[in-house]
Amino acid sequence: MRIQKDISLKPYTTFGIDAKARSFVEVDSVEALRQVLLDPAFVSTEKLILGGGSNILLTKDFEGLVIRMAIMGVSIAAEDELYTYVRAGAGVVWHELVTESLEMELSGLENLSLIPGSVGASPMQNIGAYGVEIKDVFHCLEAVDQQTGELRIFSHQECQFGYRESVFKHELKNQYVITAVTFKLSRKPQYQISYGDIQKTLEAMGVTDLTTKAISEAVISIRRSKLPDPAELGNAGSFFKNPEIPAQQYEDLKNRFPNIPGYLTTPGQIKVPAGWLIEQAGWKGYREGNVGVHAKQALVLVNYGGAAGEEIKTLSKKIQASVWEKYGIPLSAEVNFI
Ligand code: FAD
Ligand code: EPU
Repeated sequence: MRIQKDISLKPYTTFGIDAKARSFVEVDSVEALRQVLLDPAFVSTEKLILGGGSNILLTKDFEGLVIRMAIMGVSIAAEDELYTYVRAGAGVVWHELVTESLEMELSGLENLSLIPGSVGASPMQNIGAYGVEIKDVFHCLEAVDQQTGELRIFSHQECQFGYRESVFKHELKNQYVITAVTFKLSRKPQYQISYGDIQKTLEAMGVTDLTTKAISEAVISIRRSKLPDPAELGNAGSFFKNPEIPAQQYEDLKNRFPNIPGYLTTPGQIKVPAGWLIEQAGWKGYREGNVGVHAKQALVLVNYGGAAGEEIKTLSKKIQASVWEKYGIPLSAEVNFI
């Protein structure tokens, strides 16, 4: 195991911010992870667990130890009458797991195609897209306690999944390193095509026989049409979460802004697309120096090159203030600030 010193994290996050890590190590096994966590030289050092770096904004140099997850491997853990339980290491690239599941003719991950990042980070914020969240296909995960090095299994219930939420962002924040995740995938296709433009895209693609692969291709096509490729333009996907507001507040806003979109989620709560609020507040396509708001998706903040994390943070604060002023709705960040 090689501990590197004072390295740039620019290649390790999709925002492409040139911040430094005081110490940096890649771990490819649970044993290697334990060795680092329990190393007396690092026991009291602040740690940052890094997957693909696609949901992180580095606002300054990180003075502690970055542990980059490189635990690989995809295997079938079990099978029952209807489901195949697929276990993947935390370092597996998410979309590679999706592709493998399609090759195994398993259904459940197709709507989550092309989400950047690693398997290990997927339960952190219960990743979701096009009507599916990982909570719908999650079976259990393995995680190592950062203090003791002990391995613990977390059930679905213990993860406390919510919209872009889990126990690992709250009560257990910075306490566990997720080392593997097991998904419960169906051998009988369970198609989810009611969300957004999926059906329209399948029709445009000339698909008559629905398959999981066709759904995956449709999702990929929609995503490519609006989300910037981090290899070309630094970003971390949706910068903010879509806010949920009380139904009464939504009705009041509807009187003032008749076109405001909203979807009933939990009873009495309406989810409003943050992208709409930000666009209507005049930010879509806005650019200020090296940072800006994506021209095709107002929920995505971008680094045109050379931006400091603080510049992106400052822009995000301005957007929050203007949406609050116009609509009285607080936007909360989806991206993790470091
Ligand atoms: P990182 O950014 O490396 O880490 C994210 C957080 O998880 C950090 O707090 C980190 O410390 C922690 N962490 C990472 N790995 C572990 C681990 N093994 N154990 C413990 N903690 C860990 N998200 C969606 O939900 N839906 C989308 O449709 C979507 N689209 C996106 C599109 C683009 C273009 C981009 C750039 C991002 C998008 N995202 C989306 C956000 C991002 O892809 C997800 O949040 C993803 O799960 C992050 O994975 P990562 O490995 O890059 O995590
Ligand atoms: N909209 C606008 N202007 C914009 C963008 C969006 O008006 O510039 C409005 C439109 O009304 C549109 C609606 O917002 O119909 C929804 O937009 P979109 O379908 O692009 O999805 P989103 O709500 O902006 C969410 C997730 C994405 C996920 C997509 C697809 C969050 C915070 N974001 O985005 O996840 O891929 O739905 O399911 O929930 C991410 O988390 O990083 C991410 C990209």
